Amino acid sequence: MLLTGAAGFIGARVAEVLRAAGHEVIAVDAMLPAAHGPGAEPPADCLRVDVRDAEALTGLLAGVDVVCHQAAVVGAGVDPGDAPAYAGHNDYGTAALLAAMFASGCRRLVLASSMVVYGPGRYDCAAHGPVDPAPRTRADLDAGRFEHRCPHCGAEVTWRLVPEDAPLRPRTLYAASKTAQEHYALAWAEAGGADVVALRYHNVYGPHMPRDTPYSGVAAIFRSQLESGGVPRVFEDGKQMRDFVHVDDVAAANRAAIDALDAGLHGFNAVNVCSGRPISILQVATALCAARGAPPPQVTGQYRSGDARHLVADPARAAELLGFRATIDPLDGLREFAFAPLRS
Ligand code: UD1
Repeated sequence: MLLTGAAGFIGARVAEVLRAAGHEVIAVDAMLPAAHGPGAEPPADCLRVDVRDAEALTGLLAGVDVVCHQAAVVGAGVDPGDAPAYAGHNDYGTAALLAAMFASGCRRLVLASSMVVYGPGRYDCAAHGPVDPAPRTRADLDAGRFEHRCPHCGAEVTWRLVPEDAPLRPRTLYAASKTAQEHYALAWAEAGGADVVALRYHNVYGPHMPRDTPYSGVAAIFRSQLESGGVPRVFEDGKQMRDFVHVDDVAAANRAAIDALDAGLHGFNAVNVCSGRPISILQVATALCAARGAPPPQVTGQYRSGDARHLVADPARAAELLGFRATIDPLDGLREFAFAPLRS
């Protein structure tokens, strides 16, 4: 099998788990300076290959029966100037990979997707049932009113689990590119009679997560704040809900997806990859503080426009289609993560 993005935080763990399971893994990574630092060399068991390089890919794909595509530019994607990087590496990179796979006769793909395809998430109004809330207004956020409102009556709405058939509502460049990757993969599956599992990762954390960078998820940011002697700064009121899934569980989901394709899973299948144990951002910060014996986190009331308020997935389809159930409870995983090595 071919694994792209194999030197990254998630890809490296996927490589280990697949090799331990007996897969013969051809590991590639473009070693982008933004992710690995300038001049970084690939690890010993990984080739420097950019998925946009059709010629290099075609050479590697001979005899490969499945591709596990983790390579992507990640992060929030809110700087308009980054659009070409997302479109180039993620959209075009996936298109080039799919064409090379088709030419080589490889018809199975596991694609790393993201919960960000769901945009603001799913909400219920007590009076109107499931609703698509309007973006939160500055006036509400400045006044410390952080919940979304019903588009019909203006009442505050409550979050619900997001199933895979929820509408895709990408709101950032990164989300747009993840949605595009899924759409290219779906079209490729239909046109080429191929099979795809798109794994929609939730908030992934774990050992060797990149340190605090503009692109880091909140768990790494909190860790760095604790390491430099501060306490985590929790935005909004800290009650925003997420699903934190350990990188070992994400690697297990990739293995399960490959097994399901081997066992005959057909067509395009999008699947949430989450722990199934929702947790608030304040709970995440509190768990990390407690594990390190630090004072409690500071809830700042600050907000970032464009942040999803609550984004929590339904894990049912992953169990049903892939037999995948996360095994690491976020509270246990975060306790371990409080002292786990990070990558600089
Ligand atoms: C994150 C990633 C997204 C990825 C997704 C799934 C970023 C910026 N976002 O989305 O790309 O696809 O996970 O893995 O990488 N917060 C604080 N204090 C801080 C920073 C953030 O309280 O210092 C809060 C935010 O307001 C938000 C929550 O923590 O409510 C989560 O933030 P973050 O991890 O950055 O973004 P996600 O939206 O969960």
